Amino acid sequence: MVIAVIGCGRIAQNAHFPALEKIEGVRVKYACDLIIEKAEALKDKYDMVENASTDYQIALADPEVEAVFVLTPNFAHYTVTMDALRADKHVFCEKPVTINYALSCEMAEEANKRGKMLNIGVCNRYHKSVEMLREMNERGEFGNIYHVYCSFRAHRGIPGLGGAFTTKAESGGGVLIDWGIHYFDLILYILGAPELKTLTANAYNEMAKDIKSYTYKSMWAEETMDPEGTNDVDDMVTGFIRTSGSSISFNGAWAQNIGKGEAFIDFMGDKGGARLDYGRRFTFWSGDTLESFEPEYDIPNMYVCEDEAFFESCTTGVKNRSHIDNILGSMLLLDTLYQSAERGEEIKL
Ligand SMILES: NC(=O)c1ccc[n+]([C@@H]2O[C@H](COP(=O)([O-])OP(=O)(O)OC[C@H]3O[C@@H](n4cnc5c(N)ncnc54)[C@H](O)[C@@H]3O)[C@@H](O)[C@H]2O)c1
Repeated sequence: MVIAVIGCGRIAQNAHFPALEKIEGVRVKYACDLIIEKAEALKDKYDMVENASTDYQIALADPEVEAVFVLTPNFAHYTVTMDALRADKHVFCEKPVTINYALSCEMAEEANKRGKMLNIGVCNRYHKSVEMLREMNERGEFGNIYHVYCSFRAHRGIPGLGGAFTTKAESGGGVLIDWGIHYFDLILYILGAPELKTLTANAYNEMAKDIKSYTYKSMWAEETMDPEGTNDVDDMVTGFIRTSGSSISFNGAWAQNIGKGEAFIDFMGDKGGARLDYGRRFTFWSGDTLESFEPEYDIPNMYVCEDEAFFESCTTGVKNRSHIDNILGSMLLLDTLYQSAERGEEIKL
């Protein structure tokens, strides 16, 4: 498969290039980034990269390029993906789809109209623990999962304060869209895509109201921090969702004055329950025996799995679990929670 990668930042360097290198037959004809040094660094590092460019239109104009990886900041997902689809390329676009639900729907429409694949980087759908929990739910091992609770909270975790991450026009939001997308998307996937009924949330921007007085020990994407920049996004969220099946409650915080982080999801069923330690393994408790078990299993690299699955779907034309049609529900959920927080009321869909 001949591809172009647009956006050569952290997720490209740390996840997708190492994954693509492990997949046989991938030629990265173009690595593109507005900052040429980033594209060139990947060309120097990986034999599979043939050209480095600041202009992704050159890659889109090349008929040999079959598919494009869009690994730019959230707001640019829309424009770059639409350009790529209109150039008749298949697209893999990182999560979240883009900054809101309406634009995400336009992207889905364009892909479907043109008969091109558009997959979203919801990598957790390829995490072994998530696959196992989904299968256990399908087999009825939980009985009725009546409630799901999740917590994604850190002591200090605001990324690139003042830069794209904390500027709503560029990111679409804060901790809810950046971390919450992973949690809610895998919850909806494990539950089998229940219909969303009512959603309510509160969102807070408290911990770095004054960018210059924010205290921290380390910061993700610190090089993009801008003390004179913008922080108009949520650093803490809480809420409650009713669906056609389970209800869901949650707390998320990029930063809090509680010195303990949490990253787990509890699935509460009448026959059994499980706690998934995010990104790791899970514990299952049987309601009959009161025994717990923590299965041992290998956790393959989820980025390799999702990239391979994307290539397969481009070849076969079969939409897979991360096709945009299957991710719009997660975007609707996030968008509605943000609307609820803004309006200060529950929203019924
Ligand atoms: N799946 C995951 O677990 C995961 C983890 C981290 C980030 N992400 C997502 O990946 C995306 C990128 O995040 P990141 O941390 O790598 O950001 P980053 O800022 O490190 O990299 C983005 C790169 O895109 C480049 N870029 C922007 N607009 C461009 C354009 N028009 N043409 C070419 N290059 C352009 C920037 O110069 C930058 O180098 C985000 O949407 C983020 O949400 C996903």
